[in-house]
Amino acid sequence: MKIAIGSDHGGFALKEVILPLLQKNGHEVLDVGCFDTESVDYPGLADLVCEKVQAGVAEKGILICGTGIGMSMAANKHKGIRAALCSEHYTAVMSREHNDANVLCLGERVTGPGVAEEIVSVWLETSFGGGRHLRRIELFS
Ligand code: RB5
Repeated sequence: MKIAIGSDHGGFALKEVILPLLQKNGHEVLDVGCFDTESVDYPGLADLVCEKVQAGVAEKGILICGTGIGMSMAANKHKGIRAALCSEHYTAVMSREHNDANVLCLGERVTGPGVAEEIVSVWLETSFGGGRHLRRIELFS
């Protein structure tokens, strides 16, 4: 799968953990930055990832900041983007099954690397349930 990934300085270290996991699992990764821990405004990175997903250049996106909150707020301003901030396995599964989330947000200062890897793996493996859930997401799209 083609996946766009981005972070601000607060999520940079976790992005460096998630990148090799994605590559190891055979995904094609578009890393839009940032590329170091110098302070940067997260909305710009959210824009870059969401634009790739909106254009169909990437099937899904992953955004990481300190808490994941700012990234999810910024990402959900984009039409067609359903960004889910997940900090454990259950919400990762449900955000795909019930909400067809196309962007996953993580908080480096909240979620440790092991749990984050588990979230990413299960989020990418879980399919949308469709049916009544499709009707519901169409109601806010
Ligand atoms: C940066 O310090 C921090 O505010 C940012 O990474 C994020 O947590 C915002 O929601």
